[in-house]
Amino acid sequence: MSSPNLEIVICMGSSCFSRGNKKTLPLIQEYLKEKGLESHVLFKGSHCFGECENGPILKIGDSIYRKVDSSNVQDILEQELVGLNTH
Ligand code: FES
Repeated sequence: MSSPNLEIVICMGSSCFSRGNKKTLPLIQEYLKEKGLESHVLFKGSHCFGECENGPILKIGDSIYRKVDSSNVQDILEQELVGLNTH
């Protein structure tokens, strides 16, 4: 199996977690499963990014997304993962 070529890090700090990442986490897991991307993406949690005031925070590759919630996470994932090389 090839190693993951993209890293997604979700902030699990208490501020981000309670303000939305608690719901966003399973949405991302479902999305990756649905698209068959689980082996191509390393999805992990992180401690506080030190940006609580801009949270909930999600990091995809080198990009930091702020104020992520269940209504915009799908668009963010589509935008980031569209060019992902899965071969
Ligand atoms: S808890 Fe997410 S940035 Fe602080």
